[in-house]
Amino acid sequence: MFSRRNFLFQSILGTFGLSFNSCNAKTPNKSTSKMTTKPNSNFKPTVISTWNNGLSANEAAWKVIEVGGKAIDAVEAGVRVVEADPKTTSVGYGGFPDRDGNVTLDACIMDETGNCGSVCFLKHIKHPISVARKVMDNTPHVILAGQGALQFALEQGFEKENLLTPKAKAAWEKWKKESNYHPIINIENHDTIGLLAIDQNGDISGACTTSGLAFKMQGRVGDSPIIGAGLFVDNEVGGATATGMGEAVLKTLGSFLVVELMRQGKTPQEACEEAVMRIVKNQNYKDFQIGYLAIDKQGNYGAYCIHSGFDFAVYQGGKNQLIDSPSYVKS
Ligand code: GLY
Repeated sequence: MFSRRNFLFQSILGTFGLSFNSCNAKTPNKSTSKMTTKPNSNFKPTVISTWNNGLSANEAAWKVIEVGGKAIDAVEAGVRVVEADPKTTSVGYGGFPDRDGNVTLDACIMDETGNCGSVCFLKHIKHPISVARKVMDNTPHVILAGQGALQFALEQGFEKENLLTPKAKAAWEKWKKESNYHPIINIENHDTIGLLAIDQNGDISGACTTSGLAFKMQGRVGDSPIIGAGLFVDNEVGGATATGMGEAVLKTLGSFLVVELMRQGKTPQEACEEAVMRIVKNQNYKDFQIGYLAIDKQGNYGAYCIHSGFDFAVYQGGKNQLIDSPSYVKS
C-alpha cells in the first residue's frame, strides 16, 4: 500500500529532484564537476572582499588561486582567516553577541555551478562558512538554522567552542547598562566579510560570513546567509556581495539585483550604484550603512555605499590593495 509516509518521502525526493539544477542539491565531488558555463577566455584571476580585513582574507584566497585551485576553495579559505580573528568583532570568533549574550553566526557560500549552502543563527562553531560548505556538499538542503545547524556541524566533526571573547563580553556588559539600540555606522555596521574570487579557469565563487549586528534581538538573522541578499554568483555574469544593515539588503534582495543589473549590461560599478539607489529612494538611509561589491566575468569590479567609510580589498595582477568605495552621501 502506498502510505502517507511513502507519499511524503516521494514528494520530498521529487522536490529535491526539481532543485538539482538550481541552488542546491547533493552533488558529491562537486569540486570536479564539469558543469561550468561558457568558457571564459578573457579574464583576470581576482580576489575581492569587503573592508580592510579583506586584505588578509585575500592573501589566503590567493594562495589557493595561484596554484590553480578552485574559486570555491579560495573563498572559503579567505573568509576563514577573518572568522578566526578575535580582533574582528563582527565576524566569527570574537563577534559581539546578541542582547542576551549569545554569539550567533550567519554565513553562506556559492559556487560556479549555482550550488550553495548556508547556516544561520549558528552558535558555538568558529567557522560557519565551512559548515555552510558542508551543507552545500553533503546535504540536499540550502539552509540549516539554529539547533539543527549546530547538530549538523557536530555530526560533521566541527568542535563546539565558546565564541564570546572577554572583549566582546565586556562590550556587551557595557551595552546592557543602557540597552540602547543604535548601531553606529561603519563600526557596528562594519559587519560582514563578503569575498568573491575568479580562479584560473575563469570560474567565480563567493562567500559571506558575519556575527550580524551587535546586540541584535535573539533569533535575528540578517542578509549574509541569504542567497541573493548577502551574496549571489552567476558564472555567466559575475558575482556580488553586500555589507551593512542586513534588513535593508533583504528588502531589496541586493546581491541578486546587482548581478541581474550586470546581466542587463550595466558595469559592476553601475550595478552597485543602482542597487544602493533602490535603498536610498525607499528607506530612511540616514542611520545605516550599506556597501555593495561586484565583479564581472572579466574581473572588472565596482563598489558603492551609502555613507563614506566603506573600503574593500582587491587582489589582482600580483597586487593586493585597499580601495575606498565611492559613496552616495559625500562627507
Ligand atoms: N550584513 C550583516 C547583517 O546585517 O547581519
